[in-house]
Amino acid sequence: MLPYKTLILLDRQASTSLSTQIGNALIRHIRQGVLPANTKLPGSRALAELLEVHRKTVIAAYDDLTAQGWLIQNPAQGTFVSSQLPDVTPRPIAESPKPGLAHQTGYSFKQQKHLAIPVLKPSSALTFDDGFPDVRLAPVEQLARNYRNILKRGFQNHLLNYADTNGSFFFRQQLARYLQDSRGIPATPEHIFTTRGSVMAIYLLAQVLLTPGDVVAVGQTNYRTANLIFIERGTTLLPIPVDNQGIDVEALAEQCRRQPVRMVYVTPHHHHPTTVTLSAERRVRLLQLAEEFGFIVLEDDYDYDFHYASSPILPLASADSAGMVVYVGSFTKSIAPAFRVGYVVAPPNLIEELGYRRRIIDRQGDTVLEQAIAEMLAEGDIQRHLKKAQKVYHQRRDTFSQLLRENLGDRVSFTLPDGGLAVWAKFAPDVNLPALAARCHQQGLSISDGRFYQPDQPTVHHTRLGFASRTPEEMQRGVEVLKWAVSSYQ
Ligand SMILES: Cc1ncc(COP(=O)(O)O)c(C=O)c1O
Repeated sequence: MLPYKTLILLDRQASTSLSTQIGNALIRHIRQGVLPANTKLPGSRALAELLEVHRKTVIAAYDDLTAQGWLIQNPAQGTFVSSQLPDVTPRPIAESPKPGLAHQTGYSFKQQKHLAIPVLKPSSALTFDDGFPDVRLAPVEQLARNYRNILKRGFQNHLLNYADTNGSFFFRQQLARYLQDSRGIPATPEHIFTTRGSVMAIYLLAQVLLTPGDVVAVGQTNYRTANLIFIERGTTLLPIPVDNQGIDVEALAEQCRRQPVRMVYVTPHHHHPTTVTLSAERRVRLLQLAEEFGFIVLEDDYDYDFHYASSPILPLASADSAGMVVYVGSFTKSIAPAFRVGYVVAPPNLIEELGYRRRIIDRQGDTVLEQAIAEMLAEGDIQRHLKKAQKVYHQRRDTFSQLLRENLGDRVSFTLPDGGLAVWAKFAPDVNLPALAARCHQQGLSISDGRFYQPDQPTVHHTRLGFASRTPEEMQRGVEVLKWAVSSYQ
């Protein structure tokens, strides 16, 4: 008999299971010819004794290798190396003209240059980002626990299978309850469509509701990605001024009298990028105008969960009895951006159409993640997390605004946002924002140079400075860099 004890060396501290180690060692020796075809292997009991492992461990390794085609088991005669081994040797492509993969396609295609916009990537280095949550606070332990339990029971309840394109019914049930409790939206599961975040929701809505040539009213300035989606759909953007009460609804009314407006895109809670909250009077007026002129209100409520004023203003969707508002929300800010679950709330006839459109690019969402989040909603885990996160972000907003005021004085001005995760900061006119951002970058602080938010302006003085993802110590360090960079202009 071959010296199996030395051929199969086991590392009992390794994270790889003993049966996998036995299997891997056998495959290696078969490939190298140490164990030629038709070699009879020791019985499972004998090998287990030699290797000092449980017999079941050897049986698992033999079964696995049999399933892969390396071994053949004959109940009367024993286990043998197969005479027809799996062919796993990569073969060179005989007539390949050049080695390696090409770096350029050999054919041409249209590059969408207007979509190729650099974005500020969150990094482990110091960043005042666009207004992202602090992923260090995310309730990942509960999420992981739920996810693991679901995977364990997945085969019984079909959660690992093809599922409803509109999203898990249980998720939509829990979400409907949550939307009713948290923001007064009277939705049922039939009013909910699940997406992978808000951007996908806006994209699908643009596909279904808009046709090329339609006019879409947006804030002047507006969430850039939404603008790109509407431009990509072939629509015409109609910029409407935004002041300290949000989008100017009377200017919108004026425009509606002049031309048909198909859709108005708004982020009432809170306007992106300026962080302004749409006032209660303007909300009422906007709904009246929607009914009068028949335009769709696309309410992107990406930021609703984080408001610091005593009583938040409810979404437009909660007061819309005429079916004019399509509501978009997401868990990407409430849990963490990597967990891509967002949603649309709309009448069922629109939900059905969204499903048909989504199906041809994405058969369904992440059913397991939806289930895990639904369970967290049912248990109140998300609600508890949001309460805590809101408290932390509220304090961070106050700390950040104080740091900015103390360190930058009149070199930067801003209105204290009553919600959200960022400050819309205006730098003094002599500060060149792109140069400032470059100087900060050299000192390890990333900030946006503002051009992303106002691409049509020749010079920009505003940028968004996200505070939520930074601890007070990190803010302090970041603001010191900002102060140093700004001082060079004095
Ligand atoms: C106004 C607005 N809508 C939507 C999104 C995107 O959200 P999601 O990550 O859910 O796609 C963002 C991201 O920052 C945003 O600022």
